[in-house]
Amino acid sequence: MPDRAPAQQRPYIGHGVGLRTRHFQRALDGELDVDWIEVVSENFMGAGGRPRRVLERAREAMPIVVHGVSLGVGSADAPHDEYLERLETLVDWVEPAWVSDHLCWSTHEGLHSHALLPLARTPATLDAIAVRVARVQDRLGRQLVVENVASYITHSADEISEWEFLTELCARTDCLLLLDLNNVVVTCTNHGWDAQAYLDGVPGERVIQFHLANHSERGNYKFDSHLGAVPDEVWALYRAALARFGPVSSLVEWDEETPEWDALRAEQARAAAIAREILGEAADAHRPAPARPRPPAISAADLPAPSPAAEAALEQPQTLLWRAITYPTGAETMLAANTPAVRQRYAETFAETPSFARIERLEVYANDYYWRLAGVLELHFPTVAWMLGHIAFHNLVTDYVLVSPSRDPDLRRYSAGFPSFLSQHEQGEQQPELVEVAWIELDRVQLLDREDQAPLTREALAEIALDAWPELHFEAINTVRLRACSRPFSPMLELCREGIALERARRRNPPAPGHTMIWRRGLTVHHRDVGPDEARAFRALLGGKRFIEICSEAAGGQLDGGLGAAPDRVAAWLHRWVDDGLLRAVRAP
Ligand SMILES: [Fe+2]
Repeated sequence: MPDRAPAQQRPYIGHGVGLRTRHFQRALDGELDVDWIEVVSENFMGAGGRPRRVLERAREAMPIVVHGVSLGVGSADAPHDEYLERLETLVDWVEPAWVSDHLCWSTHEGLHSHALLPLARTPATLDAIAVRVARVQDRLGRQLVVENVASYITHSADEISEWEFLTELCARTDCLLLLDLNNVVVTCTNHGWDAQAYLDGVPGERVIQFHLANHSERGNYKFDSHLGAVPDEVWALYRAALARFGPVSSLVEWDEETPEWDALRAEQARAAAIAREILGEAADAHRPAPARPRPPAISAADLPAPSPAAEAALEQPQTLLWRAITYPTGAETMLAANTPAVRQRYAETFAETPSFARIERLEVYANDYYWRLAGVLELHFPTVAWMLGHIAFHNLVTDYVLVSPSRDPDLRRYSAGFPSFLSQHEQGEQQPELVEVAWIELDRVQLLDREDQAPLTREALAEIALDAWPELHFEAINTVRLRACSRPFSPMLELCREGIALERARRRNPPAPGHTMIWRRGLTVHHRDVGPDEARAFRALLGGKRFIEICSEAAGGQLDGGLGAAPDRVAAWLHRWVDDGLLRAVRAP
């Protein structure tokens, strides 16, 4: 039976796509020809530079939904005040149509798994989770939109079906639902549930959005991969969902190997076409989200405080799963290395089926945890990976993951500690060049997010009287770095991109100590190898030295009478630095 919300209760903004880095330029060019976009909140929290510019442009053009992956609202240690503060700042600025995140846990004692981990479904855990959802809503002053996750394991203690759990959570907290139809397919397959029963079981008036995505077949289970086009099974469930819920905004997620825009856009167009086919004219009757979202009808203060037993019911299975997924060699060896009593606790806590054993289910999460962290390092350090070779890089990354759990909700920041880790690692000690390249690659990632500063212009420089020059101080922009290199970096990067064998590349680009300058101009990161004199001069500038002192550094440290041609050379460099946007200000004494 249709369970359609009254029109005024549910905004309907049409059909969108998840905006990923590959299509940032399209957003900047104002060419997002979809109804709306969803962005991953954590990637934009506190970011300036390119992410901020992308959001600024997109929000002028269309509704935006802020979709988090690290709130972990069901985590025993949630909610995290610092995270909520960052989210609140983002939401206040973006004014999204709504704010969503997942019904899962993801943090343990302040550490981030970057995975969407499953919750035990009992009356006790419901008490504990409802209060957490309400606290988030209180903080944001708006309803949270909660998404069902794909899961690979259930708990022996589970008493409530997932759809009943969602229904009760909505009733208790006044939250809304993002129904991920791919996750319904994946979860129902993995646990032997009926997807139609799932749809029939959730409260239709609460469903504000659908997610559409692909999954991977892994033999005896399905894995939520977000790789590839939406499969027929998910489109079929989408049709059933439209028939049951009426017009609901949809969004296509395609995160792995994100395709060309046209392919993504074709999926979005298909979602719109199916909505038209099922709903007729109602499919085109969009209703924007209210400019001022109404606050939730229920606050955390209205709910009974969870008992210590409820908190324990939430926390205990999370501690067990955390240990299993973060164990250095995976869940199976973790269990084998433990006592029978510990193995018994796992057996009593987590359920299994004949075709999908408990250990295999735990291992899915262990692998997911590892590959999310390792994946971001592969993405950010391609030249280091090329220089080390696949196996040695994989071993290095594994060593880093083992000693460096993630402390930041933004997965992209996981790479921040990698160069200094590498400098202490035997690989880095044996090949210091790797460390140098790692710092440059990290700069190339981090500079993209730095806040914008207006660069100094040639005109401003030209206005300075000639006799003032010796005493001038220059201020570099916050998006420039100077790094020492034992071999020129730029040719090395080119050879890496060409896929040349490392030894050949090294022969073609022999060691020659020097420096590389890395900077962002506009929204593009550049790099340039610079000679020793220019490097010394720029380092002096960064150190706050006066023009005359910079000239002395460029001339090899001599002052008074020995500067020779240094002032002319430094002046020429200064003009180039200004043209490249490396300087922010000039000050006369
Ligand atoms: Fe989703």
